[in-house]
Parts: sequence; structure tokens; C-alpha cells
Amino acid sequence: MQPLKIGKHTVRYPLIQGGMGVRISAGRLAGHIAKNGGVGLVAAAGIALNSGLYNGRNFFQAEAEAFIAELHKAYEIAPDGVIGVNVMVALSDFEPLVKAAIEGGAKVIVCGAGLPMGLPELTSDHPDVALVPIVSSLRAAQLIVRKWRKTYNRLPDAVVVEDPDTAGGHLGEKMENIGTGEYDQYATVREIKAFFRDECGADVPVIAAGGVWDRADLEYALAAGADGVQMASRFVCTEECDASDEFKQRYIDCKKEDIGLIMSPAGLPGRAILNNKEKIRQFDLDHHTPCRMGCLKKCSYKESGERFCIVTALDRAQRGDVETGLVFCGTNAWKSDRITTVKAIFDELFGDQPGT
Ligand SMILES: Cc1cc2nc3c(=O)[nH]c(=O)nc-3n(C[C@H](O)[C@H](O)[C@H](O)COP(=O)(O)O)c2cc1C
Repeated sequence: MQPLKIGKHTVRYPLIQGGMGVRISAGRLAGHIAKNGGVGLVAAAGIALNSGLYNGRNFFQAEAEAFIAELHKAYEIAPDGVIGVNVMVALSDFEPLVKAAIEGGAKVIVCGAGLPMGLPELTSDHPDVALVPIVSSLRAAQLIVRKWRKTYNRLPDAVVVEDPDTAGGHLGEKMENIGTGEYDQYATVREIKAFFRDECGADVPVIAAGGVWDRADLEYALAAGADGVQMASRFVCTEECDASDEFKQRYIDCKKEDIGLIMSPAGLPGRAILNNKEKIRQFDLDHHTPCRMGCLKKCSYKESGERFCIVTALDRAQRGDVETGLVFCGTNAWKSDRITTVKAIFDELFGDQPGT
């Protein structure tokens, strides 16, 4: 297996840890992934909640502070590691969070949940910071690449292709199109790879996200044309993940059929463990939960009280209330059978590779 080069940064193994908001992937997990030879990502969304820095009134300031603090924590664990961030374009404070990521020393910025059209401008003073959009279609990749080339004379340093049929969290596809069998993740990977080659004359790494669990999946992804994989759900049931024990136990206990889709107030479908779907909404009704944070640019809960407050639902689960909280996961989460370590997962994925 080849090392993965993203812009100026190279990791020993072709693996990026998927960003998981609301402190599921905070500094500790990202640091240990980087220490073991992958790209570790601190996710921005809701990072201040449960950080001790949010006082109920200073959400945006606390988000930036907590984000920087978690990046520092990751670098304490892996001082020379490749540590980056995941910042959702849909977040109200997308721009300040990108700035905070740079201040915190992020080497890679991965952006999904929207098209990061203006990202190169925000990072123009830091050309070594690698920029990586997440897309689910060739069309989305083309829109970003054509805009970046024309306006900023810059290409993405890699692209993540996220499979709506398997990935966890918010998905970049309409609800009715998910699970129809129409979508072909690796055909999309190859199309985007070919687009870079033919239109830009460039060999840009294309990373497959969604549904990669074990070594066979990893080898399949690489054989099917991906330069690397992004894995999220597999790393939840590790000692290093900051999710509550209850959150991890939900992964261990859940069955395949418990995993499904829920419409998020962000207007995107999300994949989660859904035994408690009704209680999520009921919590907000019972507690008259106001939209206190305004975390998303567009949110049906913020605008009209429709659906539920997503950031507080995810936060409750992260803290251990999995009865009324929302547990995001990919389709493979049911395969979790115990709490393990990041190192043990890397050993299984890459154990007898040259260089270990
Ligand atoms: C608990 C959880 C939280 C997630 N949060 C985010 C997020 O904040 N931003 C994002 O771009 N993707 C998020 N994702 C998607 C992952 O980064 C990743 O691309 C996807 O889950 C990969 O599929 P896998 O879980 O099958 O490995 C999340 C996924 C999970 C399971």
C-alpha cells in the first residue's frame, strides 16, 4: 500500500479519519489517528458543547476556542502528525472556523455539507494548508474545481467521495435517491479521477468514504481506483474516541435494521441509529427547546420549529443520553462488537505492510 500524499503532507497509510461533529472526533481521536500514520481530523460542528467553554451565550466564540484547543491536544499526542479539520460549509460560522483551524495549525481542511466555493480565498495566506472538498457526485466536483481554477488558480489537494448509501451523518443526496441501487461509489471515484486527469492534467488523490470497515474493504477501495479511504464509524468504539460509553454501547448493541435515515433540520438526510426517533422530537416539544445557538446557516428548526434541534440532539447522545439523543452512524456500525484502540485497528488494517 502506498503512502497518501495530500498537497505538501504525506501519511504512511492511505487513511483519513472521517470528521465526526459534536466532539465524537475531537483532539484525542485525531491525535491518535495521526500518531498511527493516518490523517486525523478534528470536526468543528458543535465542538464547544461539552467543552466547558460554552456558557450558554458565547456559542461562536466558544466554538473557535474549543476548536483550537482540540487541535493543540491532537498535536500534543502526535507532534509531527498530519492533523486536520472537518468544517461543514452549512455551519453559520464556517469562515471564522476555517480561520480558527489555521490558527490551531491544521494541515488539512476537509469540507462537506455544501460546496466550499470560496475556501481558497479564506486560506490564501497559508498555501501549505491542503484543501479537500467532500462530494458525492462528479457534477459537484466539477463545479468546485472549475470555480477554484478560474477564480483562484488552485486545485483541490484531494477530493473525498462520500457514498450516500453507506456513510454516516449528513448525506449529500436526496432522501428518495438513497438506497435505490443507482449510485455507484467507485464509478464516481473513477470519473472524478479521470476528470482531473483529462481537464486539469493533474493526478489529484480521490478518497472513498462510506462503508469501509476492514482490510478487505480497504483493499477493494484501492483496487477500485481510490487513492485512499476515509473511515469514521469504525473509530467510534475506541478508547480514544470522546463519545460517551453509552454512545459506543449503542453501536455495539445495534442491529443492522436499527440503522436508517432521518431528515435533518439542515434539509439533508442523515444516517443514524433510529430506535428512538420519536423521542428525539419529543424532547424538544417537552422542553420547549429554543434555537439558542443558530449553528446552521439554514435550519428548519431555527426558522420555524420544524423537526428538532440537531446540534443539541447530537450533543445529548455524545454525553450519554442515547434515549433522547441522536446517534449518527454509517451502515456498518452494527459490526462494532467491543471497545478497542486506534492502534489495534491500524494493526488489523495495515499490520504486515512494509514499513510497519
Ligand atoms: C457520528 C458521526 C458524525 C459525523 N459527523 C460529520 C461531520 O461533522 N462532518 C462531516 O463532514 N461528516 C461527518 N460524518 C461523516 C463521516 O466523516 C464519514 O465521511 C462517513 O461516516 C464515512 O463512512 P463510515 O462511517 O462508513 O466510515 C459523521 C459520521 C459519523 C458516523
